[in-house]
Amino acid sequence: MRQTKRWYLKNDTTYNQEALIEAANLLTSGETVAFPTETVYGLGADATNETAIMKIFQAKGRPQDNPLIAHVATKEQLLKLVDGLPAYAEKLVDQFSPGPLTFVLPENGTCAANVTAGLSTIAVRIPDHPVAQQLLKQCNIPIAAPSANISGKPSPTTAGHVWTDLQGKISGLIDGGPTGVGVESTVIDCTQDIPTILRPGGITREQLEAVVGRVGVDPALTNKTDRPKAPGMKYKHYSPEMPMWLVAGSARKIQEVVDKERSKGQRIGVLASLETAEKINADEVMSLGKEMDEITANLYTGLRTYKSNDIDMIICEAFPETGIGEAVMNRLKKAASIYIRD
Ligand code: TXA
Ligand code: MG
Repeated sequence: MRQTKRWYLKNDTTYNQEALIEAANLLTSGETVAFPTETVYGLGADATNETAIMKIFQAKGRPQDNPLIAHVATKEQLLKLVDGLPAYAEKLVDQFSPGPLTFVLPENGTCAANVTAGLSTIAVRIPDHPVAQQLLKQCNIPIAAPSANISGKPSPTTAGHVWTDLQGKISGLIDGGPTGVGVESTVIDCTQDIPTILRPGGITREQLEAVVGRVGVDPALTNKTDRPKAPGMKYKHYSPEMPMWLVAGSARKIQEVVDKERSKGQRIGVLASLETAEKINADEVMSLGKEMDEITANLYTGLRTYKSNDIDMIICEAFPETGIGEAVMNRLKKAASIYIRD
C-alpha cells in the first residue's frame, strides 16, 4: 500500500500550478497519476517508460494484452508517435482534436512495447480538458492513460470513483471535478482505406460521416462471434455490483418487468431517463437525466451508485442507438446480463 497524493483543483482556468508541476514531476519520474479528461478520468504514466507502464497494468489489474491510449497535447506531438497519417485521418484530427476521438495508426517505435501490447499500431488522442492539456504540456512526454478504474468496473467520471478503486495503488490523483462527456472516446482505426469505428464513444458516427463520408464499423460490435480489433472490447466491462437487466420499451413495459421480479422477493433499483423514472415504482429509482447528453454524463455514476446491501438487481431502460446513444447502449449491453426487447 502506498500513499496516494490527492490535489484538489478549482474548477476554473486558473489552476493550481504547483499541483500540476508536482503531478507532472511524478509522471516524468515514472510514477502513476490519475487526471480528468473530458470523457472519463485516466490513469497516466510515461508512455516511453516500460516500467512506468507496468505500474498501470498492476494498479488496474488489467490484462496484459489490452493496449493503452497515448495522450498528447498537440497534433505535432501526435505526429511524432506514428508512421504517417492518411488524408482522411488528418481531416478527422483537424476537425475533432482536441476531443473525444482516438486514432489507431501505424506506430513508429517511440512508445514502450507494453503500451501497444505488442501490436504494430498505436492508439493516440488529444484530450480536450484544461487539466489534461496543462498536465500534458507540463510533462512534455506522451502519457499512456486507460480509464482510471479497476479493470471490469465502470469507468470513473468523478475523482471519488477513482479514489474508491485505486487509492493506495497509485501515486497521485488530480481532482478536477466531474468529467463532461461521461463515456470514453470513440476509437477509430485509421490503418485501412476507410476509417472504422472500433469502439463507439464521445464523437458519434454521424459526426464522423459528416467529415469523411463513409465510415466502417468493426463487425465485432454487432456480431458476437467476430474477434474485436480493439482488444479491450472483448472483456466484460462496466459491471455494477449486482446483476443488471436492460429493458427496451415503454415505462409500462419496464414496470411489468420490475413487478414480476419484485414478486419473487428481489429488491429492484431502476436506472432510467427522467421521463420514465417519474412513472416507475420500485425499491429505488434513479433518474439519469432528461436529454441523452445528460443521461450519458450520469451513466457511470448510475452504474456505481447502487450497493448490494440495498438492491439485488438493477433494471435499466434501453435508449435509442443513434448519436451518443450508440456509445451508451454499447456500454449498457456489456454491463447487462439480459436484454429484454419486445
Ligand atoms: O476516453 C478515453 O478514451 C479514456 C480517457 C482516459 O482518455 N481512455 C480509455 O482507455 O478509455 P481504455 O484503456 O480504458 O480503453 C482503450 C481502448 C481499449 O478497448 C483498447 O483495447 C483500445 O482502446 N486500443 C488501444 N490501443 C489499440 C490499438 N493499437 N488497436 C486497437 N485498439 C486499441
Ligand atoms: Mg477502460
